[in-house]
Amino acid sequence: MSFQHHMVLKGIDLTINQGEIFGLIGPSGVGKTTLINILTGQLLPTSGEVFVFGRDTKQLGDTEYSQMGMVFDVPGLFERLSCEQNLSIFADIYGIDKKRISHVLETVNLAASAKTKVSRLSKGMRQRLIIARAILHSPKLLFLDEPTSGLDPLNTSDIHKLILSLKESGTTIFLTTHKMDEAMSLCDRVALLSEGVLIENDAPDEICRKYNLENSLHILLKNGERVILPNTADSKETISEYMKNEQIVSIHSSEPNLEDVFLSVMKGGKK
Ligand SMILES: Nc1ncnc2c1ncn2[C@@H]1O[C@H](COP(=O)(O)OP(=O)(O)OP(=O)(O)O)[C@@H](O)[C@H]1O
Ligand SMILES: [Mg+2]
Repeated sequence: MSFQHHMVLKGIDLTINQGEIFGLIGPSGVGKTTLINILTGQLLPTSGEVFVFGRDTKQLGDTEYSQMGMVFDVPGLFERLSCEQNLSIFADIYGIDKKRISHVLETVNLAASAKTKVSRLSKGMRQRLIIARAILHSPKLLFLDEPTSGLDPLNTSDIHKLILSLKESGTTIFLTTHKMDEAMSLCDRVALLSEGVLIENDAPDEICRKYNLENSLHILLKNGERVILPNTADSKETISEYMKNEQIVSIHSSEPNLEDVFLSVMKGGKK
């Protein structure tokens, strides 16, 4: 994908499986939102083909859009209207049964604020309302562009629960995030986008294992000594000796977390 002569996405080859939570991570400006725009047919790729629900995104129509939900960083809520009224307008436009509104407000834990004007909502409540709007028509496929950006841990955790319950009920979710712990805890599969190219595309645990080149155990002993042993059978006697003598305070494997992997990829080269 290029804008003017600037190539943003290069040779992206990606399949999203039904029912999974797929996470796209990568630095700011790398092309995550652009990829969502392409997948949702809002941008046509300069070259290549994209299919959603088996249909070329050049030809997406009402049938496909009625099964897709989107949450973007540009919220577009009516500030002077209540939560309920905002959803009601959306229901009118898309011909959705108004009975869904109270159910969805309940789902996103905003039932008590149904009559509250958007201008009075906190950031977390707003984000839940934006998600409510995106799921009002029970989409099978939901795109979430940085769904918890700028939210505190409690609101973030509420939205994570919501995302997992949507997955539970069969929704396929494609999300972008800058939060590695979010990608780690929510996603079945994560792809890392760097300079327009997909570097990794796997289960988060698998990615971390792959980058664990050191494969050692870091042990802290009660006498303050720090010992590093290879994570192999060769270490079994030493460790068993430490355990017998109750000398161990903590043992950690050298396996990097997603954040370490992300940083090492961005700096170039594996850990
Ligand atoms: N409509 C457009 N016209 C021209 N350039 C664009 C357009 N949309 C995006 N770009 C450029 O494409 C690149 C990727 O932008 P994009 O918004 O996809 O990044 P992102 O990974 O979502 O970043 P962030 O994490 O900050 O949201 C940027 O260099 C941006 O300036
Ligand atoms: Mg973006």
